[in-house]
Amino acid sequence: MKDKLTIIKDKAIEEINSIDSLDTLEKIRVDVLGKKGELTLVLREMGKLSKEERPVMGKLANEVREAIEAEMAEKKEALSKLLRDEKLKSEIIDISLEKNDIQLGHFHPLIKTLEELEDLFVSMGFKVLTGPEIETVANNFDALNSPDNHPSRDMSDTFYIDEETVLRTHTSPVQIRAMKEYGAPLKMVSAGRTFRFDDVDDTHSPMFHQIEGLVVDEKISMANLLGTLETFIKEFFGSDMQTRYRPHHFPFTEPSAEVDVTCHHCHGKGCPACNNTGWSMELLGCGMVHPKVLENCGIDSEKYTGFAFGMGIDRIAMVKYGINNIRLLFENDNRFLNQF
Ligand code: DAH
Repeated sequence: MKDKLTIIKDKAIEEINSIDSLDTLEKIRVDVLGKKGELTLVLREMGKLSKEERPVMGKLANEVREAIEAEMAEKKEALSKLLRDEKLKSEIIDISLEKNDIQLGHFHPLIKTLEELEDLFVSMGFKVLTGPEIETVANNFDALNSPDNHPSRDMSDTFYIDEETVLRTHTSPVQIRAMKEYGAPLKMVSAGRTFRFDDVDDTHSPMFHQIEGLVVDEKISMANLLGTLETFIKEFFGSDMQTRYRPHHFPFTEPSAEVDVTCHHCHGKGCPACNNTGWSMELLGCGMVHPKVLENCGIDSEKYTGFAFGMGIDRIAMVKYGINNIRLLFENDNRFLNQF
């Protein structure tokens, strides 16, 4: 019996070592260790042994079983790893593979300009607010002190939705919303779409963009307005930019001014683009907030003063990128957009 056991062990181990599939391994297990397996059959003969031989053979049989099981476990582990590695290799995805026909998008020149403006004002301590494009007549005109007969209220200038609702004609109503919501002190900018019943030409579009700024606090003066605008203009356009303030009229500011900057074409020398003046006209409108506007928003105009400004973002983008036709900004022609 001892010989039989040794033969079973050697044969099984040799077989196990020579195979390369889990199925064959399982077959060997059944053939050797299974209910009708070789080892099991030998063990059945145990009863025929003498009392003394039985424990010796029992021990040997256990050792044989353990040796075979250990060999099988090792083989199983090795085969599983091999199969797993093969599977991983066959399913590999090379994520570094180049794919040439993917077109990446990028920011629109107008949005780039808008965000640069916002970022600059944020760095100067302004908070960025937004307001709705569909606005009440009350916010767009009344609270801004625009007289009932002001020409900008005209149907020929403004898109009316009904008698009390318009597509906002400027971003100034966001000032009203901000003062009503936050009161004073306040330091905000707001950029977005604006609409006017304009004829379309190279510099006019019925939909365009503005950015609005407002600062309200105690003792705010014209000096603060000039300081802020000068800092902004020199930061944004370059330190060699000259400015010129012309008196103007807006219903919501008093006094009011329009600001011109050095012509971007000739840098002040005079050229056809600036009618030989050396100035690029009307970069922005500004002024000291009219006390009536503060009062309309529940702010004490004896205690608080403020300044405000507003400018067209489309024009700034056009100057910055040398775009000569505003329509290019809105037509989404890839031949144009891909240049930025
Ligand atoms: N809302 C004016 C416009 O659309 C621009 C403007 C001028 C805004 C003066 C202001 C301001 O806040 O103070 O032409």
